[in-house]
Amino acid sequence: MVEGPLGLLAELTYRCPLACAYCSNPVELSAYREELTTEEWQRVITEAADLGALQCHLSGGEPLLRRDLADLVRTASEQGLYTNLVTSALGFSAARAAELHDAGLDHVQVSLQADEPALSDRIAGSPSFARKIEAARRVRELGWPLTLNVVLHRQNIDRVAEVLAAAEDLEADRIELANTQYYGWAAVNRASLLPSREQLAAAEVVVREAKERLRGRMEIIYVIPDYYATYPKPCMGGWGARQLVVVPNGNSLPCLAAHDLPLPAANVREHALSWIWRDSPMFSAYRGTDWMQDPCRSCDRREIDLGGCRCQAFALTGDATRTDPVCHLAPDHGIVEAAVAEANEESRPVELPLVARPHA
Ligand code: SF4
Ligand code: FES
Repeated sequence: MVEGPLGLLAELTYRCPLACAYCSNPVELSAYREELTTEEWQRVITEAADLGALQCHLSGGEPLLRRDLADLVRTASEQGLYTNLVTSALGFSAARAAELHDAGLDHVQVSLQADEPALSDRIAGSPSFARKIEAARRVRELGWPLTLNVVLHRQNIDRVAEVLAAAEDLEADRIELANTQYYGWAAVNRASLLPSREQLAAAEVVVREAKERLRGRMEIIYVIPDYYATYPKPCMGGWGARQLVVVPNGNSLPCLAAHDLPLPAANVREHALSWIWRDSPMFSAYRGTDWMQDPCRSCDRREIDLGGCRCQAFALTGDATRTDPVCHLAPDHGIVEAAVAEANEESRPVELPLVARPHA
């Protein structure tokens, strides 16, 4: 018997006022324009709660572009779900914030691209820094817990101390400093985003010191780039194990990057969420460990990291059942080693051209 999901990640729309070069949204966005209606999303949220989900993350693109966001928050709240808004904060006006507060929104996570306006706006592909700071202050004023989410990469990681100082100034409860995961537009821009070993070592010293100093005041989550790890991450806590993602056109995925995998689509317009979660080929394909090939199949760590990330294996090798090339035991590890070697070339600049994702 498959246990229910812990959380629903509702990617309400891929429209976005920003154009971040590290965006994990699909590179081809035209298939996602016919978004689920309010009623369809309300059904999805209700079915996720019936399956046992406890959290509802409302994300995108920019979820504030959905005029019905407060209605969806209210439905999730009424279903007893803990609601989390993941936002660029553009459009988080006083009126909108009050409306979401009334609807029962529990938590707000604001993305920041850097601590410094010009750099932040360049990475976001749009003038946005000042409005983000204003919105983050509004989150605190309305009494919500504030999480800042800063995706780290070659072009901002040297300012991690200043980013932490900005988070302190905003009285954030939590900051997630996650190095870029190379999906969607981030994969397109990988050569310009992957930091050097030296940059990472310097950032780790700063983060370690800050964790010590801010203990009890601000939680700091730091995620290293898996290209530099010895073993891969147990992506999403396992395929079809904890998270259920529904994207703007109703396709359901076990993670936010599985769009391109050669599996039949599982769409909420055609199927009940319970069937999608428990029985669909999309969610069953890489559940557990039976699908593994060697070296994972005979490896002691197969229940720990579950062979890493299926989407990364597919993106880098064309076969989602291969060992994640991040693993030092993977036959395809040379792909990752080559990218790391390039990022560490002696004369390689920090600032490199970025391809902005379109606004969609
Ligand atoms: Fe994990 Fe597979 Fe590498 Fe073993 S071989 S450590 S199971 S990814
Ligand atoms: Fe899809 Fe890792 S992002 S399995």
